[in-house]
Amino acid sequence: MNTTFYHLNLINPLINASGVKCMYSSQLDELASSNIGSIVTKTCTPSPRQGNPEPRYYEPKNHLLTINSMGLPNEGVQYYLDYYKKKSASLQLSGKGRFLSLGGLSINENLNMLDIIYQNPENLTYLDAIEVNLSCPNIVGKAQLGYDFQNLESYLRVIFTKIKKLEEMLLVDMTKNVELEKPELKDKDDTKYKVLIGCKLPPYFDMSHFQLVADILNKFPRLDYINCINSIGNGLVIDSDTETVVIKPKNGFGGLGGKLVKPTALANVHQFYRLLGDKVKIIGCGGVSNGDDLFQMILAGATLVAVGSQIMIKGVKCIDTILRELEDIMEKKSYSTLDEFRGKLQYM
Ligand code: DHB
Repeated sequence: MNTTFYHLNLINPLINASGVKCMYSSQLDELASSNIGSIVTKTCTPSPRQGNPEPRYYEPKNHLLTINSMGLPNEGVQYYLDYYKKKSASLQLSGKGRFLSLGGLSINENLNMLDIIYQNPENLTYLDAIEVNLSCPNIVGKAQLGYDFQNLESYLRVIFTKIKKLEEMLLVDMTKNVELEKPELKDKDDTKYKVLIGCKLPPYFDMSHFQLVADILNKFPRLDYINCINSIGNGLVIDSDTETVVIKPKNGFGGLGGKLVKPTALANVHQFYRLLGDKVKIIGCGGVSNGDDLFQMILAGATLVAVGSQIMIKGVKCIDTILRELEDIMEKKSYSTLDEFRGKLQYM
């Protein structure tokens, strides 16, 4: 099940979906002690946040979907950097990728977090990837950036210009310090201080939007991967018995996840796979609850695959089941590596 994601050699393609049981160090520890291939933190902001009032997560008994409006509760970016500092050696030893998800409430908050990360270059040795979340649906009064087609390109331009500047400063710093190797940050294969950069996207539903977003993303060669999809924003779940909504924030509106979002997730993964080619890798996220779902995500073009709702419902033990089920499918089909079927979806 070995998976390469650029220079990373991971034990398998699975990663948790950000937001599910990855806010506190104890939860990250639990993920770290499972057989998952990579871990990502809860999307964070510069300072800790409480998030929205409870109840803010709900799953109906049939487990077909989940709805949440957490409102970005998190412990603040420094907490997650400290976590990785403390745990990175053991995470590396066990072959796990270390992903940090950033979700500033403004562009300045994201720039501020990038400054915090890069001002201590040591941080970059504890991190494999920084993922900029463009798709949180649960902040009252804030639109999802991924749907702001007017401003998406200029937003990304500001972020990638900042990253370039920080990396160039780092290069200058490194050359002053003879103790440290000079990193060649332009080359994707050179890894010492090279952090992968990704974006978490919302789901798109129209072919013209896939094209529009892919055209924008293709303008940023420093973008290494996209993670799609985030939850389907602003769904409404109703309880007929009580005649009420099921979560408190935003009058019951929240992001949908779980089994029902899988076809939307597969569509996004596959269409972006076609439009972005091999320049941008894809983390497929949405509705993966068994080995067959994982198989389909890879067939659609995903390199890594996230598990969210299923970890919420079953705990981290579901990781072993999902991996075992994929192994069975591969054995039946006589596949010995994931590369043999990645992106090989056939049409009629
Ligand atoms: C939250 C939800 C998301 O879908 C996301 O991408 C980030 C944060 C939240 O409500 O906490």
